[in-house]
Amino acid sequence: MQLVLLGPPGAGKGTVATAVAIRTGIRHISTGDLFRAAVKEQSPLGRRVAALLQAGSLVPDSLTIALVREHLATMPRGVGFILDGFPRTVPQAEALAGFADIEAAVELVVPEQEVVRRLSGRRTCSACGATFNVASMPANAARFCSPVQREDDDPQAIRRRLDAYRAQTTPVVDYYRTTGLLRPIDGTATPSEVADRLRTVVSG
Ligand code: AP5
Repeated sequence: MQLVLLGPPGAGKGTVATAVAIRTGIRHISTGDLFRAAVKEQSPLGRRVAALLQAGSLVPDSLTIALVREHLATMPRGVGFILDGFPRTVPQAEALAGFADIEAAVELVVPEQEVVRRLSGRRTCSACGATFNVASMPANAARFCSPVQREDDDPQAIRRRLDAYRAQTTPVVDYYRTTGLLRPIDGTATPSEVADRLRTVVSG
């Protein structure tokens, strides 16, 4: 199964894709994670995109498309994947159609007020990478993890990311609706319920 996962910042894409990947063996590919890793390594790509990520602005299509195409080319043939955070523009969606055989585009539908609440409370462990929310952080995470706030989770960057979603990614939702691949899912249930719904799509 080759799947695209759409939804505004904070909709829970990373949370549910991680859970489904663990349960099914399908690969979870997050362009945000790939860019953050490049920034951390201070690679040439990381140096080019660091300021864009921090501000909550999209990375240019040419760089993003090349990154995903190269990443998919390194995967063994026949392995399924969930693309989280790609495509985010119509040119990215059109390019993807040329090098992958996308079977479904799942849209996590979550109201804007709720995603702002989730992003403001999100913390990521700087050691193990686990994602939490201050509203629901388990007691053992508070003991064993070193939770930090993502740089682009400050109010100004959150606003810019939501603006980018409305202007540039909503047309991608329409693109997949037109091609008949769109599968909207209510993303307001608990993470495990949303993951179950995504797993149903993955298992066809
Ligand atoms: P990226 O990392 O993709 O950020 P995003 O799309 O803004 O998504 P997030 O990671 O913020 O949210 P999420 O939906 O994964 O939610 P999460 O599961 O963490 O991209 C970052 C940047 O990289 C972009 O701004 C851009 O600069 C660049 N970039 C990436 N891809 C690009 C592309 N294709 N083109 C150009 N530039 C690109 O959950 C959020 C919080 O909610 C957590 O605290 C979680 O615990 C909680 N939560 C999750 N699910 C639930 C639930 N069901 N109920 C209650 N709480 C929940």
